[in-house]
Amino acid sequence: MRHRGEVALVTGANKGIGREIARRLADEGMTVYVGSRDPERGARAVSELNAGGADVRLVPLDVTDAEQARAAARRIDEEHGKLDVLVNNAGTVGAWGVSVDDVTADGVRDTFEVNVLGVITVTHACIPLLLRSPAGRIVNLSSPLGSLTALSDPAHPIAGAGLVGYSASKAALNAVTLLYANHLRAAGVRVNAANPGLVATDLNRDSPRNRGDRTPEQGAEVPVALALLGRDGPTGTFRGGDGTSVEDVVPW
Ligand SMILES: NC(=O)c1ccc[n+]([C@@H]2O[C@H](COP(=O)([O-])OP(=O)(O)OC[C@H]3O[C@@H](n4cnc5c(N)ncnc54)[C@H](OP(=O)(O)O)[C@@H]3O)[C@@H](O)[C@H]2O)c1
Repeated sequence: MRHRGEVALVTGANKGIGREIARRLADEGMTVYVGSRDPERGARAVSELNAGGADVRLVPLDVTDAEQARAAARRIDEEHGKLDVLVNNAGTVGAWGVSVDDVTADGVRDTFEVNVLGVITVTHACIPLLLRSPAGRIVNLSSPLGSLTALSDPAHPIAGAGLVGYSASKAALNAVTLLYANHLRAAGVRVNAANPGLVATDLNRDSPRNRGDRTPEQGAEVPVALALLGRDGPTGTFRGGDGTSVEDVVPW
């Protein structure tokens, strides 16, 4: 309960890795806002997460909706006046199994809307609140599929994965992570990217290759460790290696 009194917002927290991140941050004593675009799934997750006496609150949040993001920030401001942790977890693959030849801009637009613009939308709304925390932290759920180091090595399995929208959106997210980290460094806000590893969630359900061998609980380990960093913790890093340890650094 080292983090009692702290406030967190986790986007896309009605299921999968996000729900486990919310559970773990609530276990640490934080008040956790569960962002969910689907009210019913969100309400179910919140009632389950609150069963043990935690302080978990539902906030309607489609990350592509700037007005909803501003409304979420206004509510957190009214109820707490600050935000200590923002976890940009909401994400989508788009369509699996589309050959690179067949990728169109329209086919990847939704993926960019959620994975990149959604992160900017929510972060923009939350920055004033994070600046009021003594040690603000932003954690962006990224993926090695967005690693330009891996993509530029033709022998690397990631280079042949062919998930254009997902890989390019996570590469863009990595750049966004570094730009916010640089901008917010002097103010003491830590901004890092997390690799949860290959986790068996709905995201991988239709994968023609590997549907994930890690549980959502295991996938939450690295993002939670980054969400619990102190003011002297690292910033502008991509952590998780194969998803097992926050000590491992993923090449950008
Ligand atoms: N699973 C993996 O192996 C893996 C590996 C690397 C990185 N990641 C990243 O980890 C994060 C969580 O993924 P997951 O595996 O837990 O997937 P998941 O089970 O499919 O959960 C994704 C969450 O994002 C939400 N979401 C999607 N679009 C949204 C939007 N426009 N606004 C608000 N919420 C939205 C979903 O809400 P709905 O229920 O409404 O759809 C859901 O709550 C993603 O950023 C993903 O890219 C996952």
